[in-house]
Amino acid sequence: MKFGYFDDANKEYVITTPKTPLPWINYLGCNEFFSLISNTQGGYTFYKDAKLLRLTRYRYNNVPTDMGGKYFYVKDGDTVWNPGWQPTQTELDEYECRHGIGYSRFTGKKNGLKASALSFVPMNDNCEVTQLTLTNESNEKKSVKVFSYVEWCLWNADDDMKNFQRLLSCGEMEVEGSTIYHKTEYRERRNHYAVYSVNAPVAGFDTSRDEFLGAYRSAANPEVVEKGQCTNSMASGWSPIACQQLNVELAPGESKDFVFVLGYIENPQEEKWEDSAMQVINKKRAHEMLARYATTDDVKKALDELHAYWAKLLSKYQVSSKDEKVNRMVNIWNQYQCMVTFNMSRSASYYESGIGRGMGFRDSCQDLLGFVHLIPDRARERIIDIASTQFEDGSAYHQYQPLTKKGNSDIGSGFNDDPLWLIAGTSAYVRETGDVSILDVMTPFDNDASKATPLMNHLKRSFDYIATHKGPHDLPLIGRADWNDCLNLNCFSEHPGESFQTFGPSEGPVAESVFIAGMFVKYGEEYAQLCELKGDNAEAARARAEVEKMYAAILKDGWDGEWFVRAYDAFSHKVGSKECEEGQIFIEPQGFCVLAGVGVKEGLAEKALNSVKEKLDTKYGVMILQPAYTKYHLELGEVSSYPPGYKENAGIFCHNNPWVSIAETVIGRGDRAFEIYKKTCPAYIEDISEIHRTEPYVYSQMVAGADAPRHGEAKNSWLTGTAAWTFVNVSQYILGVYPTHNGLQINPCVPTGFGDFDLIRTYRGVNYHVSVKNPNGVQKGVTKIVVDGKELVGTSVIPYEAGKTDVTVQVVMG
Ligand code: GLC
Ligand code: GLC
Repeated sequence: MKFGYFDDANKEYVITTPKTPLPWINYLGCNEFFSLISNTQGGYTFYKDAKLLRLTRYRYNNVPTDMGGKYFYVKDGDTVWNPGWQPTQTELDEYECRHGIGYSRFTGKKNGLKASALSFVPMNDNCEVTQLTLTNESNEKKSVKVFSYVEWCLWNADDDMKNFQRLLSCGEMEVEGSTIYHKTEYRERRNHYAVYSVNAPVAGFDTSRDEFLGAYRSAANPEVVEKGQCTNSMASGWSPIACQQLNVELAPGESKDFVFVLGYIENPQEEKWEDSAMQVINKKRAHEMLARYATTDDVKKALDELHAYWAKLLSKYQVSSKDEKVNRMVNIWNQYQCMVTFNMSRSASYYESGIGRGMGFRDSCQDLLGFVHLIPDRARERIIDIASTQFEDGSAYHQYQPLTKKGNSDIGSGFNDDPLWLIAGTSAYVRETGDVSILDVMTPFDNDASKATPLMNHLKRSFDYIATHKGPHDLPLIGRADWNDCLNLNCFSEHPGESFQTFGPSEGPVAESVFIAGMFVKYGEEYAQLCELKGDNAEAARARAEVEKMYAAILKDGWDGEWFVRAYDAFSHKVGSKECEEGQIFIEPQGFCVLAGVGVKEGLAEKALNSVKEKLDTKYGVMILQPAYTKYHLELGEVSSYPPGYKENAGIFCHNNPWVSIAETVIGRGDRAFEIYKKTCPAYIEDISEIHRTEPYVYSQMVAGADAPRHGEAKNSWLTGTAAWTFVNVSQYILGVYPTHNGLQINPCVPTGFGDFDLIRTYRGVNYHVSVKNPNGVQKGVTKIVVDGKELVGTSVIPYEAGKTDVTVQVVMG
């Protein structure tokens, strides 16, 4: 069952009922100012950091209630309704929400009146603009009242949750005409305030939540709206809000527009006050901002700029195949999700609080893989930020804060896969851009500038950390956990409240990870290539020798007969082996070892992937492990804490499905690679939205596995490494355009019947117009590549030539 449809021409998903199974959200903002916005106009707004600089309030665990947002109430006679249905939930005659790329548009109709709200964050401004258009579609004159409503957050979202005894006495406001200023804590140490304004005279306002709502009421039935008149209340302490009242007369057929601006203003210390004695804030910058969006023409101009920005970004990879779902995901939604994930990391979504997890070391490195072709400059900056938090011995904090860019110990360190992801991200950046100079950037350890050393040296430490931290089977020590945060083999947590991620020793015990070993083979080789680029052939040879040793160790003790072992626990017992009672096979080492090339020539790769199909496959995706853990295993940790079928305990953890799909392309099985791609791909499962339940235009972190009563149901949408990895899979392995250090390599691996396809790929400033013909319908194999009329001989890599703007490439598969 569907709750909407894709409008590819406009790059929109159109939701046709407000009663979606869960709130279906979008993100507004590309730089520093962001809003989360649901299909019923729920959500919140922040500047730079969802914890410290949150403008509007959000209530946690808000799925599916989705209460709180930027609302408009229409009072038409005795009927009160919202264009986005919430919060009054008054039945609408018509409803539509169009989530587009960086904007959302809500249209509601009731009793002959149409209200349409278009919201977006302009390209280079710290505000959200909403144009509200009211149209009288009836034959009679209408006079209606409109009330806006936002609830301010008292800045630090953490305090807002925990220290409200203080904040209940801090709220302070100013009102000037149609503009409401939220200035809580500005009197003391803050240099910023927020504004909410409308470009029309108001018939009243409210800034005190309790006056607006009335006692024991909620946003679903505010007293002020019911009575039809604002009280001009000034919040003093308690909870500040902004509400503007507009009285609107509309002749039949008449339309009126109103522009609302929600903005963030920062003032330098010396310009803080207009009148310091009276504590009147300096509004100069706010006036300037509001003047930029005074008219609907201004709004149109800003929206056009936003469209142009996205059109240019997305143009860097555009495919045209006969499968419209591939086109839709590759050209629009998957790339879009990659950018959002880059901006948010795992911080703010309807499933991530915005006050907890900052930027993950491994998460951010992997997110890079999906957007580096879009904005290489920001990837460069991100790599240096991440590397600057690394420890001198090569290990890493697991997270860092976006504002301070410092590592934090909230969930500790010692996740031994972390260092290798830095190599992965850097290698992707250098292959994409050819910018070897990044390797020379002086980069601190643990944010200590006195310990700065070239980035290349960070990569060496990453590599060496793994090479020198091995266990009894010569496999890498897992530390606190590897990519699977819940495989806590050294934790032994017996009491509730102990964090699996920080409890127990990370050093000392001997648990080992075959997954990290696979990563080492893959990224060890990429490290060696970077060494060669720097002219350090000796180091490249040393690295390759270490990789050889690891490869041998995997074959010796990491192979279980039909698949790769997952790990060795602290007692050197196998995890993910036929010897185990539960958890006999895990997905991660099958995908990663094979994509790294381990076991391909020995014929083990095919066996491992056949085992995946036989033991882990479901119609909704490939599960992370089987059989599910039915009871808690002290020696395994959090992985066995979830009920069977959820999360890391036998859920379909979407992030690792592309690893298996890529692995299938490595051995040339295009049919199977594509089958796996489709199972979790939003566009292909739109029809089962009532089962899947999260947004049908983006990936979710997890889909419940076969053991779960709610098999097929997704959770935790938007902020997941799945976005980056599925894009890498479909763009570089299935469609087969892979950036190497010397140029683009073209080697597709497609399913039978996929047919010919064309694509445009911008790489180092050159537009490659690639046309792939597959006359015999093979799954993999290229017989001929013609570049600008000349046949390439002996290679599938198109040598990069600076100075060209457009290159035509004809590829024949066979
Ligand atoms: C979460 C984490 C990611 C981890 C994964 C598997 O998605 O953000 O870092 O790899 O879970 O545990
Ligand atoms: C929990 C989650 C896992 C996530 C981790 C991050 O363990 O199950 O998915 O990566 O928390 O802290």
